[in-house]
Amino acid sequence: MMRNLFLAVALLSFVIGCKKEEETAYTDTHALVGTGDQAYRSDCLECHKEYSYAGTVWDSIGGSPIANVKVVIKAVGGSDSLVLETDSFGNFYTDATLSSEEFEAYVDCGLVRRMPMNPTYGGCNECHRPGGSASSVLTCR
Ligand code: HEC
Ligand code: HEC
Repeated sequence: MMRNLFLAVALLSFVIGCKKEEETAYTDTHALVGTGDQAYRSDCLECHKEYSYAGTVWDSIGGSPIANVKVVIKAVGGSDSLVLETDSFGNFYTDATLSSEEFEAYVDCGLVRRMPMNPTYGGCNECHRPGGSASSVLTCR
């Protein structure tokens, strides 16, 4: 009995672990709620502990956030990846995790750009914001 339960749990985590693309059930309300614009330039994970990877993609001059941009998070040493897409407010977010804690990060605006060194943290805006350690917000060029 215990053994069957264990097997069921192991199988379930296997199925979840293999999930490739995230269909998210959340609806971004930042254009509506009081946290508004300030949230855009902050590390999403600071408030949203439930997210594993999240951030914002802006146009080439960092002026406005843009919708429908693909952000790809790929496990290092694994074959699994997450393909996220910015919502109508330019934000992407997921609570899905990968088989590896090490990951590669890409922004795909037609031209795919990869982060030269792999990030060690999924809250992209921690660095990609004004005053962050990256030179700019995430942009499409
Ligand atoms: C300063 C804290 C804070 C920051 C930073 C923040 N949020 Fe939020 N977020 C909130 C609050 C508060 C709500 C509204 C209450 C709720 O739904 O949990 C919310 C709501 C949301 C929702 C709707 C949630 C739902 O259940 O429908 C999404 C999606 C979201 N935020 C995404 C993001 C993303 C992406 C970022 C980073 C660009 C971000 N948030 C940054 C506090 C924050
Ligand atoms: C610890 C800080 C840090 C975190 C966290 C981080 N980055 Fe970066 N990222 C950088 C730095 C530094 C660069 C080098 C270029 C620069 O300074 O803008 C960079 C560059 C990039 C580039 C290449 C930009 C270009 O113009 O070609 C992409 C794409 C990128 N990051 C995506 C991401 C994504 C997606 C995430 C979240 C999963 C993320 N980064 C999280 C620091 C970070």
